[in-house]
Amino acid sequence: MTGTSKSILFEPTKIKNMGLRNRFVRSATYEGCADDGYVTDKQVNLYATLSEGGVGLIITGITYVHDSGRFSKFQNSIAGDEFIDGLKKLTSVAHQWGARIAVQLFHAGREARFPKSSDRVPIAPSFLEADPYFKGGYRAMTEDEIWKIVDTFGDGAKRAREAGFDAVQIHGAHAYLLSQFLSPYTNRRDDKWGGGLENRLRLHREIYQNIRHKVGEDYPVFIKVGIQDGFPGGLEFSEGKLAAQYLAEFGFDALEISQGLRGSSYEETEFKTKINNLDREAYYRRWSAEIKKKVDVPVMLVGGLRTFELMEEIVQDEEADFVSLSRTLIREPGIINDWKRGDYHRAKCISCNKCLEALRKGETLRCIQRETGKIS
Ligand SMILES: Cc1cc2nc3c(=O)[nH]c(=O)nc-3n(C[C@H](O)[C@H](O)[C@H](O)COP(=O)(O)O)c2cc1C
Repeated sequence: MTGTSKSILFEPTKIKNMGLRNRFVRSATYEGCADDGYVTDKQVNLYATLSEGGVGLIITGITYVHDSGRFSKFQNSIAGDEFIDGLKKLTSVAHQWGARIAVQLFHAGREARFPKSSDRVPIAPSFLEADPYFKGGYRAMTEDEIWKIVDTFGDGAKRAREAGFDAVQIHGAHAYLLSQFLSPYTNRRDDKWGGGLENRLRLHREIYQNIRHKVGEDYPVFIKVGIQDGFPGGLEFSEGKLAAQYLAEFGFDALEISQGLRGSSYEETEFKTKINNLDREAYYRRWSAEIKKKVDVPVMLVGGLRTFELMEEIVQDEEADFVSLSRTLIREPGIINDWKRGDYHRAKCISCNKCLEALRKGETLRCIQRETGKIS
């Protein structure tokens, strides 16, 4: 491990036709500060800070493509043309400071939340009578509803291109709709959308094709994919790895490797805690390394990356092409430039997840440790 600004991590590179100044990605991070779907000044300032801080590609937080998939009223929407002008502010401020920017297209599935006054019910591939991992009402989708959602992902991507985004990323990980379709635990359908792996990936394939048709061949379309669920009895790595291979074959231009459905404790989610040493870092490294050998599209590794030299080793050893950071950049949005200048300090984030807990209470994204002044 070397750690120099001549590092492979700082070599300009490309995905499809999109040039990038380095191999650092800001992994999608929900900020909880949109105004009923619209971009706010707070977000514009945050994206300016991130871009100025040196990251190569910014992926926005979850942005819903249809109001049946809305997770929060503080979340961004791309479900109508009226949102395009606000989104343009994000793309232009990101570009002003040299970063590229992709929007994360999202549907919450059964995790959707609606205003208390609404009688809407969230939708999912199947309804499970008992599920220790999920509380709340929802119902199984009809086939017409599935096709409608496919179409709205395509429309969202078309709007993204109009708003100046350099790429889109489909959210196919964690607890949400595409993971719910991919996992045999939540997808119990007996029609063509359920059963074997290819059927459970049909939604992904149809969404990809719908988007491609609407944005053209040259536009980069990525997916963040949950490779294994966080509890026994869910999606297993052997199938998740095959799923990644299918996604590359469908035509996705980059895969970001994460986990699927969440279990009960943080350790069974994508935001693991106690990332105190190198052994706890890069917790999806093995998945990414194995998948990288099987696909010929760029692979992004996310999850617990904190040490520059470790990230360099992972990319040098061809276990991933890009390194993707969320909590590190909440704590230190300028850390990429620190590293570029030769200050290779380990990320200061202590993975306490207080940022996440504040968001869940309806507060806006910030590092609580920095705010309380416990650490510089
Ligand atoms: C506050 C917070 C918000 C997040 N929002 C999103 C999101 O909008 N979309 C997404 O795919 N992942 C989201 N994640 C997960 C991160 O992108 C990332 O996969 C995970 O935190 C592990 O990476 P890290 O150790 O660099 O934080 C979020 C994580 C945190 C902590």
